[in-house]
Amino acid sequence: MKVVVIGAAGYMGGELLRLVLQHPDVTEVTATSRSQAGKPIADVHPAMALLTDARFAAHAPADVARGKNVVFLALEHGESSQIMGALIDAGPGMIIDLAADFRIHDGRLHERYYGGHPAPELVHRFAYGLADIRGHELRGASAIAAPGCFATAAQLALHAIVDLPLAAPPAIFAVTGSSGAGQSLTATTHHPARAHNMFAYTGMGHRHEGEMLEQWRAWRHDPAAHARLICHSGPFVRGIHATLHAQLAEPWRDVNGHVARRFSHRPFVRVLDAPPQLTQVVGSNLALLHAMASDDGREVQVMCVIDNLIKGGGGQAVQAMNLALGLDECAGLAAPGVFPC
Ligand SMILES: NC(=O)c1ccc[n+]([C@@H]2O[C@H](COP(=O)([O-])OP(=O)(O)OC[C@H]3O[C@@H](n4cnc5c(N)ncnc54)[C@H](OP(=O)(O)O)[C@@H]3O)[C@@H](O)[C@H]2O)c1
Repeated sequence: MKVVVIGAAGYMGGELLRLVLQHPDVTEVTATSRSQAGKPIADVHPAMALLTDARFAAHAPADVARGKNVVFLALEHGESSQIMGALIDAGPGMIIDLAADFRIHDGRLHERYYGGHPAPELVHRFAYGLADIRGHELRGASAIAAPGCFATAAQLALHAIVDLPLAAPPAIFAVTGSSGAGQSLTATTHHPARAHNMFAYTGMGHRHEGEMLEQWRAWRHDPAAHARLICHSGPFVRGIHATLHAQLAEPWRDVNGHVARRFSHRPFVRVLDAPPQLTQVVGSNLALLHAMASDDGREVQVMCVIDNLIKGGGGQAVQAMNLALGLDECAGLAAPGVFPC
């Protein structure tokens, strides 16, 4: 399989390269970069030295996509919309976009969280690549929008309680590491602001809430269903720790058993007997969950931990590719995490 990673010099692009270069069905990898074209990949991503001695190709998306089986895009928000028409015309077998541009189908939700869409006529070509929940719908897809990192953790927690009777909209409190913000330096992403610090950066209306709401409403068969995503920055590099809290309309006690049964057929979702810890998933495509109920059974909490760059990004995208192409879902994704880290 011939694969392209566009925007491969960034954090997400680097993670995708690491995964596709070790994927058993991938025979050729092209990595493009605007800023690093011509440089050896291993100069920019030294950890890749044993995997490739290739160089970054120039940023010419349509040219590199022609004749390829799969094209991944790891560009900043809004960039994929600018090139998507030409990319589709180039006719690669499949396009998987890691940015938010094509995740939301509902125009009003998109408007509310991101403003007007620059390429609305292309949005409905994209399947939403939430691999652990909607994976069965991806078979044969030729365009996939990979979910956001916060949105992935939040939706795994939400899906755990999707069929429980709720008394009020659930809320998900989530904390991410600094790699979620990408490699560009800003006042709130550089080391002194992030190390030994923690802060809320979008308590109301984080952008990932939009894609989360679209799915939640579909699952609940309720176009007015609501859920709140509350996002924080934490003093670590990789990973997301999310805690969902919900009030139930009827008491429910064996909530962890219920969640374990719900995900029992999904290879990358494991439900533990105790709350999961962030470093148990760092470096892997796993999502670890645990659920608990209050003594009276009327409140539930669901914890979910993921690696933002793998389950919340490149790993899920490769899993979606595997599912869409009918490959082994776990191909190229079996590496365990690294602990301690
Ligand atoms: N970080 C995460 O945890 C995470 C998780 C899920 C999804 N994502 C998504 O993945 C995408 C990339 O995020 P990131 O964290 O990797 O950001 P990043 O580290 O800042 O990298 C962004 C990359 O985009 C490229 N780029 C930007 N503008 C470009 C343009 N006009 N033309 C060509 N290339 C351009 C840059 O490469 P050159 O300038 O060298 O070309 C850079 O390597 C974002 O849309 C993000 O939302 C990130």
